[in-house]
Amino acid sequence: MSGEWTVRPASINDARAIAQVHVASWRSAYRGILPDSLLNGLSMEGREAMWRGLLDAPEPSSSITLVGCDASNKVAGFISGGKERTGQLGCDGEIYAIYLLDEAQRKGLGAQLVGQLARDLAVRGFSSMAVWVLALNPARRFYERLGAELIGQQEIELGGQTFIEVAYGWKSLKVFL
Ligand SMILES: CC(C)(COP(=O)(O)OP(=O)(O)OC[C@H]1O[C@@H](n2cnc3c(N)ncnc32)[C@H](O)[C@@H]1OP(=O)(O)O)[C@@H](O)C(=O)NCCC(=O)NCCS
Repeated sequence: MSGEWTVRPASINDARAIAQVHVASWRSAYRGILPDSLLNGLSMEGREAMWRGLLDAPEPSSSITLVGCDASNKVAGFISGGKERTGQLGCDGEIYAIYLLDEAQRKGLGAQLVGQLARDLAVRGFSSMAVWVLALNPARRFYERLGAELIGQQEIELGGQTFIEVAYGWKSLKVFL
C-alpha cells in the first residue's frame, strides 16, 4: 500500500496541517494513557505557533521534518528528527515525533516516514537512530517491527503524573539504505 503516499520535506505552509495531525493523533493515541485534562487542553493555536517557529528557522535547522500526504495532497502524518538529545543512548540520531491521523494508520505511511528520515539523517552524517515511546503505547511494536532494539528507559512527567518512557534504537541506519 506504500504507493498511495507521498513523503516530502515540510515547509512553513504545512504548519497548520501538522498541528492538526499532532493534536488529533495525541488525543486519539493517548486517550486512556495520558490524563484527559492534558489531552483536552491541547491547543491547536499553540501547536501551530510551535511548528511555525520550527519550520521558519532562519538558519538551516539541524532538525528534519517530513510530511506524508495522501492522493489528494492532504497531510496525513509527519515525522521529525535530528541529533539525539540525551547523549546517553549510544545513538547519534533521533526520531523526535511521528504522528499519523487515525484513518492513515496501519497503511504503511509510518514505515515510509521512518525510512525517509533515516536516509535523510544518513546523508547528514548520522549513523544510528533512537526514539522514545511511552511504555504503555502499543505503537512501540511498530519500532520493534522495523528492527529497533530496546536500549533505554526513563521517567517523565506529563500533566502532573509520572510515566515510563522506553527508548528503542537502530545501531546502524544501513538497514534503511
Ligand atoms: C505508530 C505509527 C506512527 C505507525 O505508523 P503506521 O503507518 O500506522 O504503521 P505501518 O502501517 O507502517 O506499520 C508497520 C507495522 O508496524 C506494526 N504496528 C504499527 N502500528 C502498530 C500499533 N499501534 N500496534 C502494534 N503494532 C503496530 C505492525 O506490525 C505493522 O504492520 P501490519 O499493519 O502489517 O501489522 C502510527 O500508527 C501512529 O501515528 N500512531 C499513533 C501515534 C503514536 O503512537 N505515535 C508514536 C509516538 S512515539
